[in-house]
Amino acid sequence: MIEEHVPGVPHVTWGRIANRGYHPGMSDERPYSPGLEGVVAAETGLGYVDGERGRLLYRGYRIGDLVEHGTYPAVANLLWTGDWDAGHRLSTGELPRGVLDTLRALPNTAKPMDALRTAVSAWGATQALTWPATADQARALTAFSPSALAAFARLRAGKEPIDPDPSLNLVEGFLYQLNGTKPDAGTARALDAYFVVGAEHGLNASTFTARVITSTRSDLASAVAGAIGALKGPLHGGAPSEVVEQIHQVGSVERAEQWVKETLDKGERLMGFGHRVYRAYDPRAAALRKVAESMEHPPEWLALATAVEDVALRVLEERHPERALKTNVEFYAAPVLMGVGLTPDLFPATFALARHAGWTAHVIEQSADNRLIRPDARYIGPAERDLPS
Ligand code: ACO
Repeated sequence: MIEEHVPGVPHVTWGRIANRGYHPGMSDERPYSPGLEGVVAAETGLGYVDGERGRLLYRGYRIGDLVEHGTYPAVANLLWTGDWDAGHRLSTGELPRGVLDTLRALPNTAKPMDALRTAVSAWGATQALTWPATADQARALTAFSPSALAAFARLRAGKEPIDPDPSLNLVEGFLYQLNGTKPDAGTARALDAYFVVGAEHGLNASTFTARVITSTRSDLASAVAGAIGALKGPLHGGAPSEVVEQIHQVGSVERAEQWVKETLDKGERLMGFGHRVYRAYDPRAAALRKVAESMEHPPEWLALATAVEDVALRVLEERHPERALKTNVEFYAAPVLMGVGLTPDLFPATFALARHAGWTAHVIEQSADNRLIRPDARYIGPAERDLPS
């Protein structure tokens, strides 16, 4: 209990309840959910994440079917327009001069996520974007960003950027602009599948950020630059590069069980397992596992990774019988991204490229039925008082 004299008010006792935000004359008993957990803050027709049953649907279509029968441009178009056109194409876009100059001005030590966020912001400054956002704006930005990331990756390695090839679909085009050679069909297909599973995932932190920015009637580039900023945080941007690191630590199938147990004994977490929403096997992990196993050039340690997964699932179940801890998307994102030749430091920005479809679709959806997003905070600071004389 804290006793405090509040000027103008008789002696009051409010310490214990002060933590609950009670102030004389300022009582606020509305429910508060830290992190907005469990709060429904939007209605969406885009992505349905069913954590209990391990289902992910985009506009009602199962993620596994979309990976098998679709491409990223077709899925992006589905999210933007609601129409399924399996043959829909989208190539990477041109970089405006101002963007290229901006990328050239960055230090080559800049993080790829910082470079991408900067490029999206610079792109917005060249576009005179109007509100509300349109599917054409979404297409243009989604096409632009892979070129920007590829250009930065080349510039930091002392190489010149490569112009887009309009004959290539978006993911092939990205790999071409990154590496200077056209990818084989299997490699392009594998990364395309990763883009499909990364395209949309409900009202996660970055998507919420994009919707908040849009709700002020700000433009699409601002919303996506903000979303990239939110995705950059390690609690959101995922950990496929840490999966790579852990599998390297395991070293061999024989050591898997011992390594898993020792890691858990130290109180550390197994990367690529557990999820806030999914209690069942993450459907994106299941789709990417198939892709990884069918790749022509999977990383050598894919077999080791699947062996580690079996052991990890068994040991996690023994240790946490009360809580289902299953494989999440990051576990199989790692072999796919490595298998297509990306370096781990490009993983988060590549995830951001994939999420462009979802972010921009949410921006369109938010602007179509907009209400300024403006929640309240419960005040828990000092009660009203006089300035010290
Ligand atoms: N390894 C070992 N134990 C785990 C793991 C894991 N991967 N995940 C959860 N647990 C345990 C926790 O130690 C905790 O046990 P305790 O109650 O005895 O302390 C219990 O399960 C519940 O954990 P929470 O952190 O409350 O679960 P939450 O739903 O908040 O966490 C998260 C989800 C952050 C993904 C967690 O499972 C984790 O850290 N996983 C490893 C990192 C990872 O794979 N991240 C990628 C997620 S997918 C994505 O972001 C796209």
